[in-house]
Amino acid sequence: MLTFLQTAQEAARIGGRILQQWQTKFTAREKSPANLVTEADLASQEAIFDFIQTRFPDHKFLGEEGLDQQAGTSEYRWVIDPLDGTGNYVHRFPFYAVSIGLEYQGQLVVGVIYDPTRDEMFSAMKGAGALLNGQPLKCSSVEPLSEAMCMASLPIKTSAESAAVKRFLRVLTEAQSVQRSGSAALNLCYVASGRVDGFWSTSLKPWDMAAGVLIVEEAGGKVTQTGGGAFCLEVPDLLASNGTGLHESLVRVLAE
Ligand code: IPD
Ligand code: CA
Ligand code: CA
Repeated sequence: MLTFLQTAQEAARIGGRILQQWQTKFTAREKSPANLVTEADLASQEAIFDFIQTRFPDHKFLGEEGLDQQAGTSEYRWVIDPLDGTGNYVHRFPFYAVSIGLEYQGQLVVGVIYDPTRDEMFSAMKGAGALLNGQPLKCSSVEPLSEAMCMASLPIKTSAESAAVKRFLRVLTEAQSVQRSGSAALNLCYVASGRVDGFWSTSLKPWDMAAGVLIVEEAGGKVTQTGGGAFCLEVPDLLASNGTGLHESLVRVLAE
């Protein structure tokens, strides 16, 4: 498993370097209204895929930018977001990351998220804990929602009347604060490192969540659906928290 972790970390650094190199010259286009992509997203994914696939040619791959290689016979699948936080990247708001998760038989076993701006490498291996630049990660111990800093990811171009906005407003009135950062992957890392107490979204894709979910769990946090049911990578319904009673408080307020 260590070989997989090291491969993921090296690949994430390669991706991160490419993002920084493109920072002065990229152009952005819309995949759909307000959903941006740049040359950096594509170049990062290509380099990460090439690097990992050379080492593990029979593995499967799923990546945001059209990467869907299911032909391999292996029971390993890499789930890659080559640039999480493209909107931030385009606006030069320095909060974005490379996210690489690895599943074995459908279970997350390795997760790596690299923030090239801060040179922060978040990582986890199933059953072996989570690390930030080699140091153990632990979630916060904040329990009352009134003392909690929470994060939310809302859908792109959501309407004021949407269920997602209504949920956001409900938590806003009860939590100490609710933030939006523009990078779901880093939000999960921030839950894992105790910088944020809870994070939810009902509009994420597998590549936004794969690595970060394992990192939160291995840092002692809890990940479920927003209603409290078992989390499933293929379902866009995520609540991640420090694992204290805060989790149940968020389930209650999100469901009201
Ligand atoms: C996005 C970010 C954002 C979340 C969006 C995602 P991208 O990923 O994670 O925080 O709210 O739903 O699509 O498109 O920048 O990789
Ligand atoms: Ca993403
Ligand atoms: Ca992306």
